[in-house]
Amino acid sequence: MSTKSAIPLAPGSLPLLGHTIQLLRNPLSFLEQHHSSEGIVHLRLGPSHIYLVASPELVRTMLVSNKQSFDKGGAFVDAIRILIGNGVGTCSNDEHRRQRPMLNPAFHRDRVAEYGTIMQSCAVEMASRWVDGTTVDVIANARELSTRIIYRTLFNTKAGKETAEDVERSLPILFDGLFRRMILPPLLNKIPTRANRRFEAAKKRVSDAVYRSIAENRAKPEGTGDLLSDLVRARDKEGQALTDLEVHDQVMTIFFAGTETTADALGWQFYQLSQNPDAQDRLYAELCDVLGDRDATVADLPNLPYLYRLVTESLRISAPSWLLSRMASADTVLGGYTIPRGANILFSAYCMHRMEDLYADPRTFDPDRWLPERTDRRQRDLYMPFGAGTRKCIGDNYAFTELSLSMAAVIKRWRLTLVGDEHTKPILRVSLSPSALSMVVERRAPAPPRSPDGQRSHQDATNGSCPVSHTPTG
Ligand code: HEM
Repeated sequence: MSTKSAIPLAPGSLPLLGHTIQLLRNPLSFLEQHHSSEGIVHLRLGPSHIYLVASPELVRTMLVSNKQSFDKGGAFVDAIRILIGNGVGTCSNDEHRRQRPMLNPAFHRDRVAEYGTIMQSCAVEMASRWVDGTTVDVIANARELSTRIIYRTLFNTKAGKETAEDVERSLPILFDGLFRRMILPPLLNKIPTRANRRFEAAKKRVSDAVYRSIAENRAKPEGTGDLLSDLVRARDKEGQALTDLEVHDQVMTIFFAGTETTADALGWQFYQLSQNPDAQDRLYAELCDVLGDRDATVADLPNLPYLYRLVTESLRISAPSWLLSRMASADTVLGGYTIPRGANILFSAYCMHRMEDLYADPRTFDPDRWLPERTDRRQRDLYMPFGAGTRKCIGDNYAFTELSLSMAAVIKRWRLTLVGDEHTKPILRVSLSPSALSMVVERRAPAPPRSPDGQRSHQDATNGSCPVSHTPTG
């Protein structure tokens, strides 16, 4: 295959510093301005060379058809590995071939449907606590909710409840410290400052609690029916179980990958609804129409197509996993350019989802763009809030179900109005967080019960087809 000349260096590189200042000053707009269908851009961060794969087609090639040449690795992944271990999200592709099939059953659709009962009751509990006419810190509520759901699905026992309390107390401290630790030189994290000591203590509390739960779980041959039981009882092709360390690393990975991302996605959904009162009213109408006076369950979700499109669109316009990385495991050709072995590569679903040549009017929140007649194959294939290929998010259905049930529980009860929208900015952490989300909540009129043979009048409710598949690809 003929190759082009060198990968073009992004403009504005300064001697010694390269693009560091531009990237630190406004990372999202810097990355966005280099996104095009052209291909790949060379960035310099001080002495380091990084390649931004900016074409969605090439990102898909890298993750799906040419995945053998791109592995997990590089500075970011190494930093995360030190913190959460070598679980399914951080391990090399070789190790992944053993780990992923062992974890898949815990995230099978039927298991997620079981977790749906926990998700629904936690979301209803949260929404029922709010008081009419008061201001609610919606992002703090979303964080508490997603942490509670993760630990209730992981630890189902009485002993597990003590673990859960340790975890609930400690996870926010871990998340606050994690991103800082990923980007700062490791030496700074060794200085015994108050923040570092707090972080280390929280990490030890979570680790100890997880090991305690593993031991309790192994002592019960029948299992406890929770996600931890699935991990403890998983076997590879040779019939080998995961060791305690491996189960521990998987649990830490699930905390890391599944808590903040989902909370932030939920926060952005509520933000979008507060900015689009018509969408909020339309969702409320669909919920009343389909559910009457009860709350949504997993079984209802296929009958709530507008809710589906809202969640899909919110994950498009505010994809929480804003920046991901790979390392070239061999010299390889991508988009006609040679990528050298060992090169660090970045890609951003957030930026791809906002490209004009992919989605019309990409900055407009428009759930109906996902109506089957308005979307095409390219838009569906290049929609990647959960990544793509064999390393695609294992929790995609879990997250989508949680987001849908939480949204239904809240909008069924409350009209949301954002206070001070100028304060809501994206903050770059491990995932893309809304900086502040204070909302006034106003109680909605309760919907009358639905008669068992009642016809749905809402036009959407007859169109149950799902525009986007959230099952793993590649
Ligand atoms: C809206 C919420 C979520 C988003 C946006 C999200 C996004 C992602 C993305 C983009 C990846 C691929 C990373 C890469 O290619 O480098 C990923 C991987 C992963 N996610 Fe999620 N995720 C979410 C929720 C969850 C949940 C709830 C869980 C678990 C309960 C979870 C567990 C994982 C794991 C274990 C991986 C590693 C998969 C592998 O390498 O095989 N995620 N996630």
